[in-house]
Amino acid sequence: MPKATTLHLGQVLSFDAAPTEAGPDAVRISSAMLVDVGRIVAVGDAAQLRAAHPEAEVEDHGKRLIVPGFVDAHAHYPQTAMIASWGKRLIDWLNLYTFPEERRFADPAYARDVAGRYLDLLLSHGTTSVCSYCTIHPASVDALFEAAEARGMRVFAGKTCMDRPETTPDFLRDTAQSAYDDSRALLERWHGKGRAAYVITPRFSPTSTEAQLEALGALWAENPDCLMQTHLSEQTDEITWVKSLYPSARDYLDTYEAHGLLGTRGLYGHAIHLEPRERDRLREVGAGLVHCPTSNTFIGSGLFDMDGLLREGQRIGLATDTGGGSSFSMLRTMAAAYEIAQLRGRALHPAELLWLATQGSARALRCDDRIGNLAPGMEADFTVLDMASTPAIAQRAAEAETLWEALFPTIMMGDDRAIAGTWVAGKPMRG
Ligand code: GUN
Ligand code: ZN
Repeated sequence: MPKATTLHLGQVLSFDAAPTEAGPDAVRISSAMLVDVGRIVAVGDAAQLRAAHPEAEVEDHGKRLIVPGFVDAHAHYPQTAMIASWGKRLIDWLNLYTFPEERRFADPAYARDVAGRYLDLLLSHGTTSVCSYCTIHPASVDALFEAAEARGMRVFAGKTCMDRPETTPDFLRDTAQSAYDDSRALLERWHGKGRAAYVITPRFSPTSTEAQLEALGALWAENPDCLMQTHLSEQTDEITWVKSLYPSARDYLDTYEAHGLLGTRGLYGHAIHLEPRERDRLREVGAGLVHCPTSNTFIGSGLFDMDGLLREGQRIGLATDTGGGSSFSMLRTMAAAYEIAQLRGRALHPAELLWLATQGSARALRCDDRIGNLAPGMEADFTVLDMASTPAIAQRAAEAETLWEALFPTIMMGDDRAIAGTWVAGKPMRG
C-alpha cells in the first residue's frame, strides 16, 4: 500500500505568472513537491520539506523535469483510429475519412474500446486532461467519461451535434430537438460528477441548422457554467461555405453569436482566418481560442497568428486536434506551434510553449485554479520529462548551459519516449 503522502524530488516547474505576458522569469524551479491524497500540498526546498515531513514516502526523479500534466484543449477521440489519413483538405477529409469512422461509434463496444485506448495513449504522452468531441451517439460520451473515471482523469467532453441534411450523411445526423435532449441528459448525468465536465458541442455551423444552433444556445444559457466548443475559421473554403449557408451572417463568428453561442466559456478551435470584428468580439467576451498546429499544417489550413493574438490579449489554448492533427503528443504540438509562430515572425520561448500546453490550455478551459500548474492546492496531475530520451536529444542537451537550452531539444524532437512518468491525482499511471 503506498503511503498517502509522497515527496517528489526533481526539478519541479511552476508558473508564477504567464510567461507570454511576464517573460520566462515567471517560471520557478524548485527541488521538491509534496503530494497528499491527490493534491499538491507544498512546492519548495527538498531538505526543508523532507525535514518537515519525515512520514512522506520519497520518490527521487533525479535531474528530470517535473511539469504540470499536459492539457489538450481540443481533440476528437473518435478519430484515434484514422489519424494520419492521407491527402485531403478539410471538407473532403471529413467526408472521406472522418464521418465513416465516426459512424462506427453507433456500436457502444467500439466506443469503449477506442475511449480506453485513446486515454492510455494520452497518458503515455504525458497528457492528463483533454477537451474532446465525441460523436453524435450519446454512448460515445458515456464511453469516454467512464474510461476517464476509471483512470481518475479530469476530462471535458460532449456529444457532437450535427443535423443539417445537405451537409451531413444520414448515418451521422441528429435533429435540433434530439441534440438538445441528448446533450441535456448527458450534461445532467456527467457534469460535475467526479472530475467530468460536460461541454456543449455543435460540430460547426456548416453541419448544423439554425434551429439546432438556437437549441444548443438555449441549453448553454440554461447551463452557463458549462463550456461550449466548436470550430471557427479553419480553412478559407470552409468560410466560403459558411457564407453560402448563412447569407445574412456578418461573418463566421456571427453564425454562433446570433444563436447564443458566443460566450466567455466558449472554445473556438483553429481561429485562423479571423476578421477584425471577430477578433474584437472574441477578446471582448474573453473566449478561448484553441490553436491546433499539427492539424493546421497536416490538413493545409493556414498559419495561426499567435503573435498578434497574444499581443491583443486573447485567451489561447493549445491542442492536438487528433485526428486532423497528426499526433497525440503535446511535445510534438509545441514543436509545431513553434514552427508556425516562426513563420509569422515570433520565436516562442520554451517557457511560453510549455505554458500554452499546460496552464494556457487550462485557462482556456476555465480550470486553471485546479490543473495546469504545480502549486499548493492544485490537483496533482503531473508529468516527469526525461530531457535526454534519445541519443539525438541527449547529445544536444549535453551542450546546454541553461534549463531552457536543455529542454528545447525535447520540445522540438521529443515524443512518448521523453515521458518518464505520468501521475493523475497523485497516482502513477505510467512510469
Ligand atoms: N471541422 C468540423 N469538424 C472537424 C473535425 O473533426 N476536425 C477538424 N480539424 N475540423 C473540423
Ligand atoms: Zn476539431
